[in-house]
Amino acid sequence: MTATLDVSVPPHDLGYPVRVGAGVLHEVGATLRRAAPRGKRAALIADANVMPLYGDAAARSLRTAGFEVVSLSFPAGEASKSVANLVALVGQLVAAGLGRSDAVVALGGGVTGDLAGLVAATFMRGIPFVQCPTSLLAQVDASVGGKVAVDLPQGKNLLGVFHFPSAVLIDPDVLQTLSDEELGCGLAEMLKHGALFSREHVDDLMSRADAIYARESAVLAPLVLASVGLKAACVSRDPMERLGNTGRVFLNLGHTVGHAIESASDFGLKHGQAVALGLRASARLSERGGWAPAGLEANMVAALERLRLPTALDPWLEGAQGQRVAEALASDKKRAEGRVAFIVLSGLGEPKVVELGVAEILALLRG
Ligand SMILES: NC(=O)c1ccc[n+]([C@@H]2O[C@H](COP(=O)([O-])OP(=O)(O)OC[C@H]3O[C@@H](n4cnc5c(N)ncnc54)[C@H](O)[C@@H]3O)[C@@H](O)[C@H]2O)c1
Repeated sequence: MTATLDVSVPPHDLGYPVRVGAGVLHEVGATLRRAAPRGKRAALIADANVMPLYGDAAARSLRTAGFEVVSLSFPAGEASKSVANLVALVGQLVAAGLGRSDAVVALGGGVTGDLAGLVAATFMRGIPFVQCPTSLLAQVDASVGGKVAVDLPQGKNLLGVFHFPSAVLIDPDVLQTLSDEELGCGLAEMLKHGALFSREHVDDLMSRADAIYARESAVLAPLVLASVGLKAACVSRDPMERLGNTGRVFLNLGHTVGHAIESASDFGLKHGQAVALGLRASARLSERGGWAPAGLEANMVAALERLRLPTALDPWLEGAQGQRVAEALASDKKRAEGRVAFIVLSGLGEPKVVELGVAEILALLRG
């Protein structure tokens, strides 16, 4: 199955196609050619894990489309999403002779997409780029929506812009080489999309968990497409994150508590694992605060377990760890005067924004 989903970016004419299907990585040359009809050079940016795996396939396709390929690699990991790497990569584009009519390919996980996307956004005031996400998290989340950024010492994603890709090519075959742990992180975001907007998506994920972990392309492709469709519908309603309580803010489901746990773990937990715990926290809080009927937390735990994701929330709410989570919640950059727009669920597929203080959140979670 290969399918194309068009993501609209109203009111701007910045919409882009998302192609999902086995083998679509080989379309990157033709796709970039449409984005940069007069381009001579393509900067192919990937981290040191992904470049040896898929760099050749992408470069071959780019050469076939008439591009001279400039391959640029950097060490894998969040630490590479830095101002230093942004400046170094832009310098390498200058040194390689890229110009305004040339273009960038981001081949990799969310770190690569965010970093290479910001390179494309800022080099000569912006050139086109195509996203080829290779982690499940990047396929269902980071590559769609147009947010690109690097981290500052003060916090994640603090230096960034909106720069919409010319196209996104999602090839489920590349997930063959992704670890189960990283696959699980993507599944946490897919579960979030289902919990927010579609109970059916949650059911589909649960019933196909084994085939997902077996990396069955025929199962992965439609599920990834469905998840991207749910995120895309949300970001198209609010492309620049300007709507108050009905737009992109919903995508924070599970992330308020998830971020706090992630930082309290000194990043020992991966983002997706922390989000999994955050999803349980949101379900518990929704139930205990009276927004959802009894049973929502149990349903969320069942889904997390089926998807082989962590569920042990309570150790993060008690003792010294609980104290660290409380401090992280209080210092999160999104806090306005100690209150937070917290996403609760009235049920699966029914999100709602409520204003809560940090103390209220903790009291409801600790029960
Ligand atoms: N822009 C957005 O809207 C958005 C949304 C969500 C997350 N993000 C960002 O995404 C980043 C996290 O993304 P991530 O989890 O993909 O991290 P990542 O890019 O570090 O990838 C995770 C690991 O998987 C490896 N990898 C990727 N694809 C592989 C493959 N096919 N085979 C083998 N190994 C592979 C990478 O080398 C890396 O070691 C964070 O920086 C986060 O802020 C951005």
